Amino acid sequence: MIAVAGFNTAIDRFIRLDALRPGEVSRALGEQVYPGGKGLHVAQTIAALGERVQLVGLIDAAHRNLIARRMSERGVLFHGVEITDSIRNCLALQDANGQITEILGQGPLLSQAQQAALLLDFRRSVDESELVVLSGSLPRGFPPTTYAKLVTQVHGVGKRCLVDASGMAMQNALQSQPFLIKPNRDEIAELLGHPVDDVAAAVGAAAQLQRRGVAMPVVSMGALGAVAADADGYWHAELTLDEVRNSVGSGDCLLAGIAVGIKRGMSLEQTLRLGVACGAATALAEETGFVERRTVEALLPRVRVQRLTI
Ligand SMILES: Nc1ncnc2c1ncn2[C@@H]1O[C@H](COP(=O)(O)OP(=O)(O)OP(=O)(O)O)[C@@H](O)[C@H]1O
Ligand SMILES: [Mg+2]
Repeated sequence: MIAVAGFNTAIDRFIRLDALRPGEVSRALGEQVYPGGKGLHVAQTIAALGERVQLVGLIDAAHRNLIARRMSERGVLFHGVEITDSIRNCLALQDANGQITEILGQGPLLSQAQQAALLLDFRRSVDESELVVLSGSLPRGFPPTTYAKLVTQVHGVGKRCLVDASGMAMQNALQSQPFLIKPNRDEIAELLGHPVDDVAAAVGAAAQLQRRGVAMPVVSMGALGAVAADADGYWHAELTLDEVRNSVGSGDCLLAGIAVGIKRGMSLEQTLRLGVACGAATALAEETGFVERRTVEALLPRVRVQRLTI
């Protein structure tokens, strides 16, 4: 079993428009509503790949049906902590050129009791799992040291912890030396204080993260693929896609594939291949942060993986 802390569950609206004109009225050409949140994407992708997974996150009465039902349909064991405020609302607007503008709601402000309820469910799910993923933003109210504490807690019981977050939550988490972190290009630049624009720079960045105690850093670079490192070396993997429909959530699916590879004891080369196939698979479909297993399997042989030296 893999446990995912994806506390800041969301409702994602994906709207297609002809063009996005600030200050003017636009009519939607199509609209979809999805259960969202980065941890939820990770969990549903892990389930799609055939691994047992549980997700801990917020839920409200208005969306319990949508989220709980969808998670159950997709094979995710969902532990929803119900709050009276609305969970986060996020909006993605895609114009005719395919360009996506995202507006991310700030989400609910949690009381101490609500925070404690999430942390209690998290502890229980860690006990039942071999591998733990912390993904996405912390709901408002949580101190930015929360992920750092959770990493220490998970490692304290001898389990591996994978973290995908940004800002202070990530900076602090790094102090606890997570087994794996998966920054994208912006996040790694923010963490290290310098730009990381190509594969060579990503390898250097991964080495820096290893020196700071991350055993298996993964740096994702959108269409340029991803770089991963462990004690044995550095790997780069990429897959060229002819047509990208929606690459939001690609990082979440990449992380899900990597979590599954680690859980199955696959080599880093094969783990990265699976991750990159998952990141690409979700980019091919309109839905954010979800893959079909058969799409991933079809893409796997097309991933180019290369061993790199520093
Ligand atoms: N346009 C693309 N073409 C091919 N592969 C892609 C493309 N975009 C993303 N990917 C794959 O998905 C992985 C993750 O993408 P990216 O680096 O954009 O993550 P991210 O910024 O963390 O995304 P998010 O936070 O929205 O989930 C990449 O490493 C790559 O393997
Ligand atoms: Mg990301």
